[in-house]
Amino acid sequence: MQQPAHIHALKADITTLEVDAIVNAANASLLGGGGVDGAIHRAAGPELLRECRSLGGCRTGEAKITKGYRLPAKFVIHAVGPVWRGGNQGEPELLASCYRNSMKLAAENHCRTIAFPSISTGAYGYPIDEAAAIAVATVRATLADESCIEGVIFCCFSEHDLDVYRKALIAG
Ligand code: AR6
Repeated sequence: MQQPAHIHALKADITTLEVDAIVNAANASLLGGGGVDGAIHRAAGPELLRECRSLGGCRTGEAKITKGYRLPAKFVIHAVGPVWRGGNQGEPELLASCYRNSMKLAAENHCRTIAFPSISTGAYGYPIDEAAAIAVATVRATLADESCIEGVIFCCFSEHDLDVYRKALIAG
């Protein structure tokens, strides 16, 4: 099946993407960490941490928005994915909720383009095949509601992840 032109996967460092919003795979403190979170804070500069300190953290499955500061992206949407605990602790719904809430925040802030990392699949241990299927299905379902969003990028950090996302886009 032909993919809609507005959703695609690519391999890149998300901090380099010129989109309206990039999503951060954050933790509940919103005060930075390793992985993509560390890369985003390094690239955005210290003003990002200052704004994050004012937000009072974020619950798992939810998201909060800040400016992008020194990033090419106008906004950073900080989403807190679930830690993988075997899959029976509400992880799929919490992960879907991250994608849904991020799309909603992007639309409320008039974003036309948004890029997601593979939330929860690094330090939080979510199996990538399952996470990619949820990411693709949730974004597709949300796109119908958030009509100002024209382009969604799944930003993968390895060839393997890119392959998984490409397959999920075809299968979905
Ligand atoms: N651009 C795109 N993707 C990246 C980048 C990058 N620059 N760097 C890493 N990734 P993770 P999580 C990929 O661990 O599993 C943090 O410490 C990475 O290869 O960043 O949600 C937070 O503060 C993987 O595919 O996020 C939390 O404590 C994906 O991003 C915790 O880790 C997500 O990996 C969140 O864990």
